[in-house]
Amino acid sequence: MIKQEQMIVVSQHKIATNIFMLTLKGMLVQEMHQPGQFVHVRVANQMEPLLRRPISICSIDSEASEFTMIYRADGRGTALLSEKKAGDYIDVLGPLGQGFPIEKAASGDKALLVGGGIGVPPLYELSKRLVEKGVEPIHVLGFQSENVVFYEELFNQLGETHIVTADGSYGHKGFVTNVLETMTDDFAVYYSCGPTPMLAAVEKMYPHKEGYLSFEQRMGCGIGACFACVCETTEKMEVAYLKVCSDGPVFQSGVIRV
Ligand code: FES
Repeated sequence: MIKQEQMIVVSQHKIATNIFMLTLKGMLVQEMHQPGQFVHVRVANQMEPLLRRPISICSIDSEASEFTMIYRADGRGTALLSEKKAGDYIDVLGPLGQGFPIEKAASGDKALLVGGGIGVPPLYELSKRLVEKGVEPIHVLGFQSENVVFYEELFNQLGETHIVTADGSYGHKGFVTNVLETMTDDFAVYYSCGPTPMLAAVEKMYPHKEGYLSFEQRMGCGIGACFACVCETTEKMEVAYLKVCSDGPVFQSGVIRV
């Protein structure tokens, strides 16, 4: 069930250049059941900026009623959010959207998880859930450069992890696809989150595989009412467009035109 709550800030840390990790506490966490969903966060209490910002859920701790999100402070709204301190309250609406279907991988299966930049965080909760059910995750995570790499160690603890940077300053040089080309495709299902060109490249590599892609999109309402987030579908679909906020952000491969 979608809820709106004034959640309390447990902690906020800068974990890479312009990248922040924010942990919030509140009853809304009890509604978070599926990795890959997001929350819509009101970044400031004053009138401006009025709009909420969609931020993906990175990690859920139901017992403590806490969840963590990782975001990039790259505009006025997220810069304001990055100033919040432990004990402050933040207005959160969520959990929103359709997340990753973890039931598509069975115990003993391998699953490929491919993330790019700020698309990496939702793969963390997904990977934890897959490991819990006996799935072996393989992570391929792409970043611009060394100064924006985060969570390498945490992904490493869950399974095989390959880091790629576009400028070669850390890990493999190039794009995630450069690493994928060197790997076998003996996985049962793939999950990916990141910029659309990356999703398109990953989808193209595995036309014969079942895959799920999480799209990044500008949003308004976040709840399916304003049409700010519509995406064109492929000719296979009966409808011409879908809304990323409520029909997605996760779609099966082949559904959204990339
Ligand atoms: Fe309003 Fe998706 S953001 S319909």
